[in-house]
Amino acid sequence: MTANQSTLDYLPTDLDSSRLPKHVAVIMDGNGRWAKNRGMPRIMGHRRGVDVLKDLLRCCQDWGIPALTAYAFSTENWGRPIEEVDFLMTLFERVLRRELEEMRQKDVQIKFVGNLSALPSSLRAEIDRSVSLTAENKGIRFTVATNYGGREEILQACREIASQVKSGKIQVEEIDEALFSSHLYTAHVCDPDLLIRTSGEMRISNFLLWQLAYAEFYITQTLWPDFSRSEFHQALLAYQKRDRRFGKV
Ligand code: FPP
Repeated sequence: MTANQSTLDYLPTDLDSSRLPKHVAVIMDGNGRWAKNRGMPRIMGHRRGVDVLKDLLRCCQDWGIPALTAYAFSTENWGRPIEEVDFLMTLFERVLRRELEEMRQKDVQIKFVGNLSALPSSLRAEIDRSVSLTAENKGIRFTVATNYGGREEILQACREIASQVKSGKIQVEEIDEALFSSHLYTAHVCDPDLLIRTSGEMRISNFLLWQLAYAEFYITQTLWPDFSRSEFHQALLAYQKRDRRFGKV
């Protein structure tokens, strides 16, 4: 290790590398409060939140966690003040443009889930570009939920399956969990093993309703802009202490 590397550049020795989650999902809550506590406009919290997400992505790569999904914008978030919504849309676009080359080089495969058709066209273009330029990458699957709603996702899967039954492509008896999952936005990635929510809220907020069926939850009072590698370490320690029974004894 060189002098300027932190010990957390490597998997902490008290974590079992064979029992890490294969997929971590995060609800990045508390950006607005973090900014307000400092007398700053809410958007400063979102800006700082991007840096935290970037470091978490890097940390997952450093520690050997193969998939990360982040809830960036829910279908309900359109109800925020127009200036904040506009800021977030512009922020997503700017960050994608700025980070794309590094993600490509660092072997990140980025995907977006949600109703992307309702996003501004310039953001959609940036999304398409980042998805296609990283499609062959194998290092980590990074999924960003944008204009995402879990109920809407389930409904669109039902509609697709119903129309395939109607056209005779599949039989009703063929509908099982695997087939249903393959019609969700997240068909490219396994279900999350661990969900982290910051800022202490005990809600799922319409996030990955089907996929989180057996996930372990880690809820912390820390606001997202203060979420650090050392807190991620704590979340993973807590996860490794859980007895995952998947409904069995
Ligand atoms: C929730 O905090 C946070 C959001 C709605 C936005 C999260 C988005 C980012 C961190 C940017 C991610 C960027 C990319 C490109 C993926 P809040 O505003 O609800 O906080 P509050 O509960 O304190 O008001």
